[in-house]
Amino acid sequence: MSAAAVLAESLERAAAQSRPVYQLRRVDKVYTARNVHALDSVDLTLEHGSFSAVIGSSGCGKSTLLKIMSGLEPPTKGSVMLQGRPVTGPRRDIGMMFQQATLLPWKTALQNIVLPIAIRDGKAAAKAKEREALELLELVGLKGFEHVFPGELSGGMAQRASICRMLITEPAVLLLDEPFSALDELTREFMNMELQRICASRDATAFLVTHSIQEAVILSDVVYVMKPRPGRIVEAVTIDLPRPRTLDMMTTPEFASIVRRIRGRLDVEAFL
Ligand SMILES: Nc1ncnc2c1ncn2[C@@H]1O[C@H](COP(=O)(O)OP(=O)(O)O)[C@@H](O)[C@H]1O
Ligand SMILES: [Mg+2]
Repeated sequence: MSAAAVLAESLERAAAQSRPVYQLRRVDKVYTARNVHALDSVDLTLEHGSFSAVIGSSGCGKSTLLKIMSGLEPPTKGSVMLQGRPVTGPRRDIGMMFQQATLLPWKTALQNIVLPIAIRDGKAAAKAKEREALELLELVGLKGFEHVFPGELSGGMAQRASICRMLITEPAVLLLDEPFSALDELTREFMNMELQRICASRDATAFLVTHSIQEAVILSDVVYVMKPRPGRIVEAVTIDLPRPRTLDMMTTPEFASIVRRIRGRLDVEAFL
């Protein structure tokens, strides 16, 4: 490759890295039925390829924020832009994952994974995607489990299958609402590392809702701290631990000091 081509490529990469994928401006949400001011003037910009987490006590508006970002819930005020276009409803370039894997028990892992394609584009299109689904199963360490039914999968395996189901539509952004909260601690830590690997290999932009400070810190470039009543972002903490992150980093003084700083910003009573 010529020097000019190398330069052009590195400039392109830098531009891609600083390209905002999501832009939220002064997003407000009031649930009028119960007169709850769930979000107050939230500003948020997510860069291409970045991993961000939002942390805050129960009821501070995390899920509301995610629903607004995904187009499932309209904001009362403010704007939500994704890849330069306003989000006005569910979109193909958004992938979501929740606390429960929500796989259909009467379909195999493979059938569950291609289901979004079957619903969107029909059976033939889903069939054509099976090869890719098998590659995804391999990516998440579930090779050989394609014909297994969800009832025979452990919690961690089911969440891995739901990662595949999210990735099959090739979303530009991954919105994750406490995806590993129902798992035991060891499985959860393992899944955190898996998620990091998957995001890096696909250059994905990810936004994770969690109430584990450790999980937020080990995965993220930026951790947003939210406070309730009304729900708002009070701080954006940049995590400059090197990448790739490892579980060993969780025992370092740097890690402990970041965790302490974030804990200090949260309403600790709300966690008790
Ligand atoms: N559909 C809804 N209708 C009315 N109030 C809601 C609705 N969804 C959430 N809320 C309220 O909005 C606030 C934020 O909720 P939520 O976004 O679920 O918080 P979190 O995910 O941080 O626990 C809470 O007070 C909750 O009771
Ligand atoms: Mg929630």
